[in-house]
Amino acid sequence: MTTDAPVSAEQQRREEELVERVLRSFDGCADPRLATVMRSLTRHLHAFLREVRLTEQEWEAAIAFLTAAGHITDDRRQEFILLSDVLGASMQTIAINNEAVGSATEATVFGPFFVEDSPEISIGGDIANGATGQPCWVEGTVTDTTGRPVPGARIEVWEADDDGFYDVQYDDGRTAARAHLFSDAEGRYALWGITPTPYPIPADGPVGGLLEAVGRSPLRAAHLHFMVTAPRCRRLVTHIFVRGDDLLDRDSVFGVKESLVKDFVTQPAGTPTPDGRVVDGSWSRARFDIVLATEEEQR
Ligand code: BEZ
Ligand code: FE
Repeated sequence: MTTDAPVSAEQQRREEELVERVLRSFDGCADPRLATVMRSLTRHLHAFLREVRLTEQEWEAAIAFLTAAGHITDDRRQEFILLSDVLGASMQTIAINNEAVGSATEATVFGPFFVEDSPEISIGGDIANGATGQPCWVEGTVTDTTGRPVPGARIEVWEADDDGFYDVQYDDGRTAARAHLFSDAEGRYALWGITPTPYPIPADGPVGGLLEAVGRSPLRAAHLHFMVTAPRCRRLVTHIFVRGDDLLDRDSVFGVKESLVKDFVTQPAGTPTPDGRVVDGSWSRARFDIVLATEEEQR
């Protein structure tokens, strides 16, 4: 156990001398950026260790935690990204690197479930391909920050089914609830998806154990992922969230931004659909207008 007893002057001198020695060890680093990062990491890491007066048992537990994270990580599971996500480090890095530009749509966490080469659908097509859930019509425009339409923007969309699983979490090789489409000459797009439902991030590993130990839920607020790319525009990786979802203020990876919370309006069974599709039962609809920053607007 540590005590809150004040640290003696001699003890402080020894601790500070060690920090200085570690800092000096980077003096020969030929890469100035690497030297800056390593010196800052050293200062903050040592400040943390000294502030909490880390015990040797706690240090061993931390090493065991990181070792377990390494052991569970493979081509399909990345526990270190998950750790970064639940500590808010992923979102902070995204915030730093997607500077606010006028009305440009805000970015949020990428997540581990994006897959290259998704099927292409035409405007108004359905991404579900057998994924279960309430049908949901999503429409909007892609424009730049001056309001000019962005035609031909590639819009990737992916989401979990209503059991909370992405297609890649099933063992049968299915491709479902993911697709891409292109905005039309006026920048418009529309698609059928499924109304997003909350689901837990993978919680059967050390990160799940950490969340449990600190009394936090692994649940993510319900969301629909987007990645939008267009020539001369900054790539946008984002989601839209469902207004009214209880989890909006305790998303396990801190991904929610107020500007990304949208109305998903339930349409009772029998309500005519925008494209004349016949839907069995109720459906929902949402609007998401996407604003891309141009490359010149990015610093
Ligand atoms: C996701 O939204 O797919 C996700 C994001 C972060 C961690 C796990 C899942
Ligand atoms: Fe997700």
